[in-house]
Amino acid sequence: MASTTPAGLEIRPRQLDFDLPNPLPRHWHGGDAFKTHMFNAMSVLFPDGERFFIESVRLFREQIEDPVLKEQIRGFIGQEGHHSHEHLAYNQRLRELGYDIDYLERGLKKRLTFVKKHLPHDAQLASTCAVEHFTAIMADALLKDPQWLAGADPKMARLWRWHALEETEHKAVAFDVYQQTCGSRWLLRRAMLQSTFFFTWDTTKGLLHMLKRDGLLWNWRVWRDGLTWLWGKDGIYRKLVGVYLDFYRGDFHPWQHNNLELVAQFKGDYEPQSSAAA
Ligand SMILES: [Fe+2]
Ligand SMILES: [Fe+2]
Repeated sequence: MASTTPAGLEIRPRQLDFDLPNPLPRHWHGGDAFKTHMFNAMSVLFPDGERFFIESVRLFREQIEDPVLKEQIRGFIGQEGHHSHEHLAYNQRLRELGYDIDYLERGLKKRLTFVKKHLPHDAQLASTCAVEHFTAIMADALLKDPQWLAGADPKMARLWRWHALEETEHKAVAFDVYQQTCGSRWLLRRAMLQSTFFFTWDTTKGLLHMLKRDGLLWNWRVWRDGLTWLWGKDGIYRKLVGVYLDFYRGDFHPWQHNNLELVAQFKGDYEPQSSAAA
């Protein structure tokens, strides 16, 4: 089983201007409030979350001597920086629709301030590895399974696929830095348990807030269809349980889920000429 990052993998930020719909259609995901707000709730977390990922890797950057990994760190920082930037623009569109993004960001900002002040550096990097695993398994599924974005506004789908592509490319960077500098599996598992709780908490809070503002919080059809989409027999989250649990194994490495073919399949969509044409 492959247990390292594939040789020759290039991690480079793409300079793209997404020109998001303005105004953003309130339910840009095929008119479905639940699906739209599941994605929106994640978007709210990205600017602060990704800044934290970058900072936690930077804490160990000087200790890395491997030139390949040093180059990958540069790519990782560039990619996450761009994601943060694009999601700020996306979140501004959400503000303009009347959602209280400041309220939704407040809890995460406070928590990250606490973590940076009180947690040891290795625990901070372990948290990044854990959340990067979350984003990696969701990115993989989003690129593979048309259910994730079926019916979505094409510009929004393009943004999410770009983010998923780059999350796939850099999925092992924080992990490889952690392996070369910290290495405790116990800390990784603890970080994953905590991250799972907070990710669920934050995305649920975002979803509830946005559904409430839309007057759909108590609409049972929205919940029935939404929860079936996530956790039903063919649910998009249900299918992730196995790959999520792999993280707890003693020999886990992100590239054991080898999906380089997805990088090859989607990267052509984000070459400069195709972005100009889109
Ligand atoms: Fe990202
Ligand atoms: Fe990432």
